[in-house]
Amino acid sequence: MVSLCQACSSTSTTPLLVAKRVFSLASSPFGHKNPPRHYYSFRGFNSVSASTSVCLDSKEVRSNGLVELEYAELNLKYKISEEVGHARIRQHVNPLSSSFSTPAPVPAWDGVYKDPSLPLMVDIGSGSGRFLLWLAKKNTDSRNYLGLEIRQKLVKRANLWVNELGLSNVHFIFANAMVSFEPLISSYPGPLDFVSILCPDPHFKKRHQKRRVLQKPLVTSIIQNLKPGGKIFIQSDVLEVAQDMRDQLDKESNVLQHVDTVDTEEGWLMENPMGIRTEREIHAEFEGARIYRRLYHKIQVT
Ligand SMILES: C[S@@+](CC[C@H](N)C(=O)[O-])C[C@H]1O[C@@H](n2cnc3c(N)ncnc32)[C@H](O)[C@@H]1O
Repeated sequence: MVSLCQACSSTSTTPLLVAKRVFSLASSPFGHKNPPRHYYSFRGFNSVSASTSVCLDSKEVRSNGLVELEYAELNLKYKISEEVGHARIRQHVNPLSSSFSTPAPVPAWDGVYKDPSLPLMVDIGSGSGRFLLWLAKKNTDSRNYLGLEIRQKLVKRANLWVNELGLSNVHFIFANAMVSFEPLISSYPGPLDFVSILCPDPHFKKRHQKRRVLQKPLVTSIIQNLKPGGKIFIQSDVLEVAQDMRDQLDKESNVLQHVDTVDTEEGWLMENPMGIRTEREIHAEFEGARIYRRLYHKIQVT
């Protein structure tokens, strides 16, 4: 039994690696017929304390605690979570319902970012926003970051965190990316240089697969707006979902090329190239899942 209690834990990634190793022992790849347990057990908002310590004592292990650890340097205030309120994300939102059919209003970009001419990275389905907050804090002067998220409470909380961290290069918009990506991104003054779709809702049932966020119109809009050399990063812990995104992007081989200069296995990147894992990624790896990743760049068409 691995024991890593309050006294010995730190903000390093060591506990994450230990947890990953322990929990990967019993793991096996899964497909849609056997969806990963955490899709039904994970509660999106933090019910854990602000403490970054974690106790890896069999049943006491909590993957939420691992998220706290991985994002410890953001030092986010949990008072904000309490103010915004608890939001369970057990059920997937249906982006095709009429309540999500209106595109999000286009903001005045110069009121959103200090310098709206900077290159933009968009994270589609940004969840809690921690991933973009972390990147934005690392790259304050070189890029702007935009999270599109269909759950309003997550957006509200993420923007409160933006203010609290005093960042002027990251923003979150409550939006159904399927209908809002095009009007929002085509109006952005600077170049679009990176799009990520990370662990999107899997919508396992056959009849619900049209609810998956990456559909042909979004692929077209991403490609049209992306600058030459710009990148698209996709990942999922569900092979079928990753394969679905891969098939759609591979079809665009006249403009998109998979970046295979990094380590790959069967065409999947072995490592996360972003320098930080998303929350879903942390939870999934904690459960022993493999993450399937692809990175594409847009070819300069002459
Ligand atoms: C499984 S979570 C993954 C969150 C984050 N990317 C991560 O890896 O931790 C998928 C997120 O996408 C959001 N989402 C689903 N469909 C969406 C859509 N059409 N537009 C915007 N966000 C969407 C969900 O609300 C959820 O927060």
